[in-house]
Amino acid sequence: MTGRMSEKVSIITGGASGIGRACCLRFAEEGAKIVVADINLERAEAVADEVASAGGEAIALNVDTSMPEEVAAMASSAVEAFGRIDACVAAAGISHAGYISRDADEQVSADRHDRNDMMLIDKSLSNWQRVLDVNLTGVMLTNQLVAQQMAKSEGGAIVNIASVAGKTALMGASDYCVSKAGVWMLTKCGAIELARHGIRVNAVGPGYIKTSMSGAATSNEAWVEGRIKETPLRRLGEPLDIANACLYLCSDEASFVTGEIIFPDGGLIADSRS
Ligand SMILES: NC(=O)c1ccc[n+]([C@@H]2O[C@H](COP(=O)([O-])OP(=O)(O)OC[C@H]3O[C@@H](n4cnc5c(N)ncnc54)[C@H](O)[C@@H]3O)[C@@H](O)[C@H]2O)c1
Repeated sequence: MTGRMSEKVSIITGGASGIGRACCLRFAEEGAKIVVADINLERAEAVADEVASAGGEAIALNVDTSMPEEVAAMASSAVEAFGRIDACVAAAGISHAGYISRDADEQVSADRHDRNDMMLIDKSLSNWQRVLDVNLTGVMLTNQLVAQQMAKSEGGAIVNIASVAGKTALMGASDYCVSKAGVWMLTKCGAIELARHGIRVNAVGPGYIKTSMSGAATSNEAWVEGRIKETPLRRLGEPLDIANACLYLCSDEASFVTGEIIFPDGGLIADSRS
């Protein structure tokens, strides 16, 4: 297929849902060959089927991105299937230790706000570590093992999904905020270290986006109204808003852009960006 990502082999972690799924579909529309990598294989296969029904090419892989050997297997399976890796979006993530991504029709209401270990003073070490393992170490492992494959061919482009929460503190989410601030710094370190291998590394920091992750909250009208009021563009983001930013950063249009972060957040943190 022709397009802005024509023939580019693209791994999307967290590709089974939300932002990752939107990246799979949008990149495929622009001609990419897609590896849908996710801890939930059944949902990943459904996204690979969606790509195929739209005329694209995709495989689904099962991976827990916090496990080094599984991430290594993901990267080598992608190369086995398609010959190389050109692009990667590291979107796999959790909002808190017990988070399970779900389809809209199986949404469980408001578990996030019912948890009693949200505040730093009560946070259990195991919950803190799980968030850091998936959201930060998982992104580091994805960058490392994908970069090792990219370095063997013509380089490539990596985009890490951070968050506005990596820039501004959210009450009751210290583990999440710290993990996302870490992803931003990892992105800058990766950019300067991997440039010599022809690999660009950038980040995207979404504002409030309509996905499973915000789902518990978005079923709460008062919460949604509050977030819309806070957002200068007066709406929540769609997964496609984020996929389009990732697409730009992975495409050749961004060939001189590395170590950068883009905040598609409707202006939410415009006054505190620098
Ligand atoms: N939705 C928002 O408002 C928002 C805002 C800022 C940042 N983000 C970030 O965007 C990314 C995508 O989240 P989303 O909103 O699309 O949520 P989502 O729940 O729809 O998607 C997350 C995906 O990651 C997968 N996943 C979770 N843990 C994994 C693991 N260990 N290994 C592999 N896959 C795993 C899930 O199965 C799911 O498919 C996350 O990193 C999240 O922190 C989301």
